[in-house]
Amino acid sequence: MTTQKRILSGMRPTGPLHLGNLHGALLNWANMQDDYDCFFFIADWHALTSDYEDPKNVPDHVKTIMIDWLSAGLTPEKSTLFVQSRIKEHAELFLILSMITPVPWLERNPTYKDQIVQINNKDLSTFGFLGYPVLQAADIIMYKANGVPVGVDQVPHVEITREIARRFNHFYGNVFPEPDAILTRTPKILGLDRRKMSKSYNNAIYLSDTPDAVRSKVLQMVTDPQRARKSDPGNPDVCNVYEFHKLYSDDETIFTIDSACRKAEIGCVECKKMMAEFLIKGLGPIHEKRAYYLERPDLVEDIFVDGSARAAEIAGATMEEVRASISF
Ligand code: TRP
Ligand code: SF4
Repeated sequence: MTTQKRILSGMRPTGPLHLGNLHGALLNWANMQDDYDCFFFIADWHALTSDYEDPKNVPDHVKTIMIDWLSAGLTPEKSTLFVQSRIKEHAELFLILSMITPVPWLERNPTYKDQIVQINNKDLSTFGFLGYPVLQAADIIMYKANGVPVGVDQVPHVEITREIARRFNHFYGNVFPEPDAILTRTPKILGLDRRKMSKSYNNAIYLSDTPDAVRSKVLQMVTDPQRARKSDPGNPDVCNVYEFHKLYSDDETIFTIDSACRKAEIGCVECKKMMAEFLIKGLGPIHEKRAYYLERPDLVEDIFVDGSARAAEIAGATMEEVRASISF
């Protein structure tokens, strides 16, 4: 029996993972594995809340993401890695929580309000999309997680989870702890075009990109927008390429680029080429692990099966408690 605090987090399987996911989430999760009892899962039912018209790629994305996770350092020896839809209890708890969740809580959810306005190519006026945070609450409290490592965009969802847990406890007795969002500091790396790195902006460098793909993407990166010519001094502090240097290059290079850029002694193309090689080197171990798991689909399936069995055990026990507390 572990005395470590339990954390849980998840990702929707919308496509292969990129460096934004790596630095924004995965590396933090991997670092937490020694200090917490960790549950990480792929929220495939959540993918249906927006992609319900065309779900055929979801199962492939689930496998891709698990391989990306493993290659970035999540390991079944330390963490319970599973897939939401394999644990049917999530659907049952979602149903029960939906009975006690006031609709106005969901209607005023900022993520909901934003996405309804911003996403115009999909009809999001569904019950499931409005209920997204209720399913997320079920995911979290099912395992009685104490902490949820997430980005700021997910904080409202953790807040709704706390409110739902509190309401459940109020009606039926103290079953669920109220989880805290765990916000970790992350480097401010951006996509190739300086917007947030995102698959939908087509500006991402993927964990699965080959070295040549990385080289050509790095060359496309927008640098200091004020620096038009090589003879203009640049400002590394506002340059996304330099952010990558700080993460991947050696100290001497970081130092040299900083001063050479400010004095216009180095051009952006040369600077990018140097960064690309450090980045490729840094991603080397991830690429190696990726290749290892790609060659062993049976091993990946075993990881799904084992992780889901571990998750199912806890989910089963929680649901017994839930059914008893509502007298069913
Ligand atoms: N909503 C999260 C996201 O889009 C994914 C998610 C689903 C999640 N269930 C969760 C995250 C439970 C943390 C805990 O990123
Ligand atoms: Fe950015 Fe490097 Fe160009 Fe300076 S030289 S603006 S750090 S890419």
